[in-house]
Amino acid sequence: MVSTPDLSVLEKANRILQKKLERAEATCRELDAINQRKEAFLRQIIQESRESQDILEQRTAELQQVVQQLQQALSDRQAAEFQLKQQAQNLEQALNELQLTQSQLVQSEKMSSLGQLVAGIAHEINNPVSFIYGNINHVEAYFHSLLSLIAHYQTHYPNPDLIITRTIAAIELDFLRDDLPKLLESMRRGTERIKKIVLSLRNFARMDESEFKAVDLHEGIESTLMILENRLKAQSHRSSIKIIREYEDLPLVECYAGQMNQVFINILVNAIDAFDERKQDDNLLEDKLENQQNYIRIITSVLDDQFVTIRFLDNGSGIAEADQKRLFDPFFTTKPVGKGTGMGLAIAYQTVTERHGGTLECLSSVGQGSEFIIRIPLRHETR
Ligand SMILES: Nc1ncnc2c1ncn2[C@@H]1O[C@H](COP(=O)(O)OP(=O)(O)OP(=O)(O)O)[C@@H](O)[C@H]1O
Ligand SMILES: [Mg+2]
Repeated sequence: MVSTPDLSVLEKANRILQKKLERAEATCRELDAINQRKEAFLRQIIQESRESQDILEQRTAELQQVVQQLQQALSDRQAAEFQLKQQAQNLEQALNELQLTQSQLVQSEKMSSLGQLVAGIAHEINNPVSFIYGNINHVEAYFHSLLSLIAHYQTHYPNPDLIITRTIAAIELDFLRDDLPKLLESMRRGTERIKKIVLSLRNFARMDESEFKAVDLHEGIESTLMILENRLKAQSHRSSIKIIREYEDLPLVECYAGQMNQVFINILVNAIDAFDERKQDDNLLEDKLENQQNYIRIITSVLDDQFVTIRFLDNGSGIAEADQKRLFDPFFTTKPVGKGTGMGLAIAYQTVTERHGGTLECLSSVGQGSEFIIRIPLRHETR
């Protein structure tokens, strides 16, 4: 039998259920509120993180801009530094050029006044020497006439007066007859030499010529050698220097003759100095060197019908490799203060390259010797 539930029990259960329902609803509302709060909070966080991302992006952009600006500033600075360096280099080069020009001016001023002086003196010496030279032949002829007159006298008057015999003895007539021709010959040679020297001096002193002229370069080299002859002779500390000429037939070469002579003399003087130096340096090698002939070879030739080359080879001290790079620099010298100015080769280089459109090179090895090679065009375009 089914018992019917008591109404009050039902009501109670209903109330309990009602309450549970209410509580569940309250919990539900609470959860809902919490959810809403969480959602709001999340939204806020998302919003904030979006905002901070925006800020971050903005900052990054700003930072990139700053980096770019810095990079620009850096490259600007580098460019400015480069420009400054360039300017400093230009200035240094200008200074060097100025120094070179200045010493060249001094040198050419010196050479041109020296040239004028030398040419003047050579001219003055030339006249009296010509008198002597021209009269020697007459003296010789008169002397022969007088001698034949004496011979005639002696044949026709074999027994002269005592005074004549005594005078013949006193003046040593036989010796005089024998010696006078020799004496005249040596006077002739002497005056010939003076004439040659005078000619060389006049040739050498052609400094003032300001335009290209077709000249015989061998003549210039010979004049220069004549001027240096004294220095080629044996010295107390070294034997003589032999000049070996290996000349080809050269056509006339268009150049500034006086300036080319200056180049020859600068190169030749250096070679002579190199022999003087070697002897002092190599005392140990003295015996070996005693037997070695000092020489300067001068070789000329024509190249491709367009250029002439003049090579000066010496077997002097030679040049250290480090020095070879600086040979043509103005003021570079290895000689003691007061002896060398270091301008000889700098001027030679400028004369050959810039004034004559040629080249000047040096080959050398220590202890063996040196070679200087000049190459200049035979002809020049009229400027
Ligand atoms: N033929 C040579 N043999 C050895 N060294 C040489 C020779 N020619 C030049 N030199 C070296 O080159 C240097 C520079 O020569 P450069 O003629 O320019 O000046 P310098 O002879 O010293 O002085 P200067 O102005 O009086 O000529 C010399 O000091 C010397 O050391
Ligand atoms: Mg020199």
